[in-house]
Amino acid sequence: MPDKLNIAIFASGNGSNFRAIHEAISGGKIRNAQIALVISNNSDAGALEIARGFKIPAVHISRTQYKSDDEFNATLIGALAKHHINFIALAGYMKKIDASIVGAFRNRIMNIHPALLPKFGGDGMYGMKVHEAVLAAKEKLSGATVHIVDDQYDHGIIVLQKTVTVEPSDTAETLAARVLKIEHEIYPEAIRLFAEGKIKIEDGKVIISQ
Ligand code: GAR
Repeated sequence: MPDKLNIAIFASGNGSNFRAIHEAISGGKIRNAQIALVISNNSDAGALEIARGFKIPAVHISRTQYKSDDEFNATLIGALAKHHINFIALAGYMKKIDASIVGAFRNRIMNIHPALLPKFGGDGMYGMKVHEAVLAAKEKLSGATVHIVDDQYDHGIIVLQKTVTVEPSDTAETLAARVLKIEHEIYPEAIRLFAEGKIKIEDGKVIISQ
């Protein structure tokens, strides 16, 4: 078994993916991991409130509080070091992770995206905009993707994907709700596989052993 995962969650919004990961850990589905820190760029994020309820250290760190990108990123790195973080899960985090952090946590940052990457990803594709774009393109399938984070938006190696059917009657909201349900399945599952050492990344490819 690899070293225990000491996870930092980065979240900007409601925090339902954070909650799903927390439930999988507290319910014993993910054994070799704990959530040690929650960071949000948004002081009103539901994720911060959930974290405080669970007595998990929760901090608001936003670029707007700092004079430069360097100062901001150094504060993030400092918070991660202080809590001995060795894995980052982006869970509805709407900001790009700086290359300095990607470099310090190479292949140890995951993200969940509410579509079937590489489609409907990239700059500006987040939250409800993704589902609106899927409907506008008249896709028959959508879904969710867990991927390793590299220094481009929604670009890193894909770890897990699951599809949902797009119904003719769907609005962005109904589709988002169907996708969110499967996000709550595949994100904890991807973290379980990683925590158990069952995900290997070699030559830019993911090898999963069950
Ligand atoms: C989720 O649907 C997640 O996939 C999406 O934001 C939502 C956050 O929900 N993330 C992105 O769009 C990132 N590109 P949550 O706060 O309830 O977990």
